[in-house]
Amino acid sequence: MSTSPLHDLDQKVSELLAAISEIDSLDALREAEPGTIGKRSILSTLQKSLGALAPEDRSDAGARLQSARRDVENAFEARREELASVARLHSLEQDRLELGDVVVDNVRFPATTGHPGIIAVTQSQLEDVFVAMGFTVSEGPEVESDWYNFEALNMPPAHPARGMWDTFYVDLGDPETVVLRTHTSPTQIHLMEEAVRSESLPLHAVMPGRCFRRDAPDSRHLATFHQIEGLVVDRGIGFSDLAGVIETFTRSYFGPDITSRLRPAFFPFTEPSAEFEITCTICKGSGCRTCSQTGWIELGGCGVVDPAVLHAVGIDADEWGGFAFGFGIDRCAQMRHQIADMRALIENDVRFLEQFS
Ligand code: PHE
Repeated sequence: MSTSPLHDLDQKVSELLAAISEIDSLDALREAEPGTIGKRSILSTLQKSLGALAPEDRSDAGARLQSARRDVENAFEARREELASVARLHSLEQDRLELGDVVVDNVRFPATTGHPGIIAVTQSQLEDVFVAMGFTVSEGPEVESDWYNFEALNMPPAHPARGMWDTFYVDLGDPETVVLRTHTSPTQIHLMEEAVRSESLPLHAVMPGRCFRRDAPDSRHLATFHQIEGLVVDRGIGFSDLAGVIETFTRSYFGPDITSRLRPAFFPFTEPSAEFEITCTICKGSGCRTCSQTGWIELGGCGVVDPAVLHAVGIDADEWGGFAFGFGIDRCAQMRHQIADMRALIENDVRFLEQFS
């Protein structure tokens, strides 16, 4: 009896499988395929040789060969998947964006993460102080009509006190009827209107936000700046309540060695009105260049709400009274961190900004 052409089939198949598992790229795999399972492959040559077998042996041998071919084809498919997933990982790795350190001219700049800016931090600290004193926090629009920014605050058209605020006008509607708010006081009007609508007086609120004035920037002023407004509308409210709130705030925010004082001033929407000053934090009151040797720094204005303002929003001034204050958030940051020139706040110099991270 002659040897079967399939006598070493198992041996050949295991050699083929071993060879397939060593192929290390998709291209090489594609090239190897015809020689292994194509027309000129060992498997096809064996297939042809089956014709020489006795008919009774042929179908058995055919079945063995068929299953060997399936094993080899499966091994190809499995290797193809392995190599494709390696290739995918490799291309992901190549496309990865380098978000770490930046290297320029061989100098390594370490990667950094951002942090809230000094004004945002100051604003939330101020809010915290007032929330602890029982105030709520509200915000209002930065673009206002003339009525909210001036008229409802007891400044009819052409009132001379409007000149206290150098105003940016928005090119909208009739000339000079829409403004970038020059202070946060118009938010008082929105809040009082809402309290009247929803019958929710009394009102104890602070209103932080960005304001705009057509001022040339200097070491203590910016054209875009931030204020925090305070408003209380309640029964039996007087000037002494205002003075108490200002002093409590000053000591809580700036520390026990800083105190406040109120000096007579004029605002159309409060009567009486005052300027609110605190001990200069730089010289602790002994006098320095920042406070022009006075020992005091002006933070903002305040006063008892003028009955004309309550009247403008429909609040009965015989039943309700109130006080209001408004001061600079930027100025608070400047005083708390002893920033000699406020313009540093808008210059985006990382060496300055990183001090407050
Ligand atoms: N709105 C005033 C200003 O910006 C400050 C102020 C607020 C004065 C509330 C009195 C009462 O100059």
